[in-house]
Amino acid sequence: MELLRELLDLQCQHGYLADQQLEELAQRRGVPRYHIEGLVSFYSQFRRTPPPARQVAVCRDVVCQINGCGTLRTRLEQLAENDEDLEIVEVSCLGRCDQAPAVAVNHHPAGPATDPNGLLDDSTVPWLEVPRSRDWQVDPYRTVDDRYGTLEQLVSDIPALANSCISQLNDAGLRGMGGAGFPTGRKWELVAAESSDTKYVICNADESEPGTFKDRMLLATLPHLVIEGMALAGLTVGATRGIIFLRHEYSIEQEALETALEDARARGVLGSDAAGSGRAFEIEIFTSPGGYILGEETALLEALEDRRGEPRNKPPYPGQVGLFGEPTLINNVETFVLSVPIIAHGSDWWKRQGAEGFSGLKFVSLSGDVTRPGVYEIPVGTTVAELIKQAGGVRDGAAVRAFLPGGASSRFLPADRLDTPLDFDTIANAGSMLGTGAVIIIAEGRDLFDLATNLVRFFRNESCGKCVPCRIGSHHAVGVLERVADGTTSTNSLEELPALAQTLEQTSICGLGQVALVPILSMLEHFPDEVPRP
Ligand SMILES: Cc1cc2nc3c(=O)[nH]c(=O)nc-3n(C[C@H](O)[C@H](O)[C@H](O)COP(=O)(O)O)c2cc1C
Ligand code: SF4
Ligand code: FES
Repeated sequence: MELLRELLDLQCQHGYLADQQLEELAQRRGVPRYHIEGLVSFYSQFRRTPPPARQVAVCRDVVCQINGCGTLRTRLEQLAENDEDLEIVEVSCLGRCDQAPAVAVNHHPAGPATDPNGLLDDSTVPWLEVPRSRDWQVDPYRTVDDRYGTLEQLVSDIPALANSCISQLNDAGLRGMGGAGFPTGRKWELVAAESSDTKYVICNADESEPGTFKDRMLLATLPHLVIEGMALAGLTVGATRGIIFLRHEYSIEQEALETALEDARARGVLGSDAAGSGRAFEIEIFTSPGGYILGEETALLEALEDRRGEPRNKPPYPGQVGLFGEPTLINNVETFVLSVPIIAHGSDWWKRQGAEGFSGLKFVSLSGDVTRPGVYEIPVGTTVAELIKQAGGVRDGAAVRAFLPGGASSRFLPADRLDTPLDFDTIANAGSMLGTGAVIIIAEGRDLFDLATNLVRFFRNESCGKCVPCRIGSHHAVGVLERVADGTTSTNSLEELPALAQTLEQTSICGLGQVALVPILSMLEHFPDEVPRP
């Protein structure tokens, strides 16, 4: 952690990493220069040349493509042609798909960026601000003074606190909201059962998959529940140290989080006697050096251990062998947030919150062709059609052609499945996956082949390169798709993709490679007529 933190500090101070700084760092820390070079070349946030006076980073991913990022970038590039002080770069999803096309000007978030000229002067940039607090149902506290009440009520008896947290979470059936849906109570139970004296709790706030931005909203508006959920988890599993692994593009949300951490320390919720429990629990923020792959839990651990963020083989799972070899509980931001109301009100309350036949509440990132994209708190079991209605309908009154119910790694579904309830099992039965609950709506008239290619390109770009099939296979697939699109190869080439997808699925170490071709295969299954014909 310390080495990457020092590199990030140097980059922040000077805007780039010069040879001399790296040499001095290597000597000061007594680490070989090649190790430092290995880190700098792996992580996307580092640069080795002085930055321009103005850099405009334009998101190139699927939701921004729907919202015209291609035209925006072309016009910006024209403006930059004779301007040495202006650099235009394409970047992967900025986590602000509700503000598409999203940009970052000198690393500060902005959007929707409709006027390229407006991005050239600070006074006309549509800067984004952290949203003011929102009235979410999951927040059990009506006033600021009430916050942390659940933790404070339980801390007098730690074994009882642990039992209560685990049994309420198990009974509620809460599943992880980071994509894989692993049962949360079971995970806390497994880490609690480990005998080590040193354990860690990590909040995964790396959120980088196109279409996913709910964690950003939760960090900004419910940071006290993130902290309380982590503290309850720390006391349950026997950890004294918590780390929030935060994507670097969430700088404005980081301020809200830091304020909440200060407040929690001032109240005595964090520290050597956390909430008066007699146990220590402290939380620090680690800013990600960049890259979608770092959201994968073992890649995240590698980064925290100052190595290149390449996923580890599993098992062993982080719950047994995690950070620095110690048992580590890793949960998503939303998972920690939801754990608090469940523990506060009980699992029966939670079960009553769902739509008929379903349990609980869910935060959904809704984007694409809808009138009001954004984060919605819905009863689990709400249908996609109902969600679109809440968001003011499809943009410009168009009809839906397709949708992705769980972000970039889920399968396209056709419009006739809009009545599917948003729930892990029902979406799986409908042929896709809920994942992180990132619903992307695609209206009639969009080029689905192009959008599916964009998604495969995202996985190709973000592959860490550790597994040959993922590194080479995703690159090859993008090549095939691009050649089919421009007519330089026959559409018959698409026939090799199912076998390639199967190879990736069976031989990739992590979920990225396993799903890299899912977008195009599902698009071809449901919309074969969308293939460009010569
Ligand atoms: C390529 C890849 C990227 C991921 N990115 C994230 C992420 O940004 N945030 C997250 O919480 N989980 C992410 N995950 C899932 C994590 O590996 C892990 O399952 C999750 O953090 C566990 O928390 P949960 O049980 O609360 O869902 C990712 C997985 C993969 C394969
Ligand atoms: S599947 Fe891809 S992203 Fe995952 S470890 Fe292998 S090469 Fe890296
Ligand atoms: S910000 Fe562009 S796809 Fe997410």
